[in-house]
Order: sequence, then structure tokens, then C-alpha cells
Amino acid sequence: MSLDNEDLINAATEARRNAYNRYSNYSVGAAIVDDSGHLHVGCNVENAAYPLGSCAEAGAIAAMVQQGGKRIVKIAVVGGPGEVGPCTPCGGCRQRINEFADSNTVILAIDDSGEWQEYSIEDLLPASFHLP
Ligand code: THU
Repeated sequence: MSLDNEDLINAATEARRNAYNRYSNYSVGAAIVDDSGHLHVGCNVENAAYPLGSCAEAGAIAAMVQQGGKRIVKIAVVGGPGEVGPCTPCGGCRQRINEFADSNTVILAIDDSGEWQEYSIEDLLPASFHLP
């Protein structure tokens, strides 16, 4: 399967439609292409006990790992509404992505209007924490 940026953004946008976001009203979808070319998606799932909510990226990464994916080749994150620009991964999700990323991993952050920006993990999480 060969997935271009548009395919990945569409998959993240579709996943976002199922976001469970009753507390923040901010919906996020994430889509990953893994090292085997497979697609994995996730959306944010909030909870009445706020800290238990999970991010779209966390869902997509869990799906990737469960399905045998080893590395993130590309990840698209679509979120809104907001006037803050494209939905860049939160701090925790930068570390989650980092676990399965390398210097070639592409991170696409997209807003409601479809405007997007491209980052590397080094852009988003410089001097990151790794265990040996
Ligand atoms: N959220 C994500 O799903 N991913 C991010 O990287 C940023 C934040 C979710 C968490 C919460 O459900 C909502 O967006 C507002 O913070």
C-alpha cells in the first residue's frame, strides 16, 4: 500500500469524526503509516475523570503496536476547532512518537481548514529522553 500525504490526512480527518470529546469539544484524529506501509488511526477519547482521557496519537500508536508495526514512517494529526494553527502533538505525545520515530519520520500537523505544517521529531522534541 502506498499512502501519500493526502491519503494520510484524509484518514486522520475520518478518524477525528469519532472523537469522544464531550469535555473539551476539541476533536483530534491521527493516522500513521508504519514501516510495512500499513495504516493505523486513532482519535481522542476523553473521560469524566479528566486525566484519564487519551490523545489521538496514543490511540493510533497503540493500534500500530498491536498490529505489529515497529516504526512510524509518517504521522498526520488533525485537530480543532481553534485559531491556534495546525494541531501539533502535545508534549506527552511527542515523547510517545519519539519512541517509534527516527530522523526520517515525518509529522504532519493540520488544522480545521486543511492548512498543514511538516516537522521532524527533532523539531518537536529536541534533546529527547532515551534509555540506552
Ligand atoms: N489532544 C490530542 O488528542 N492530541 C494532542 O496532541 C493534543 C490534545 C486532545 C486531548 C483532549 O481530548 C483534547 O485534545 C483537548 O486537549
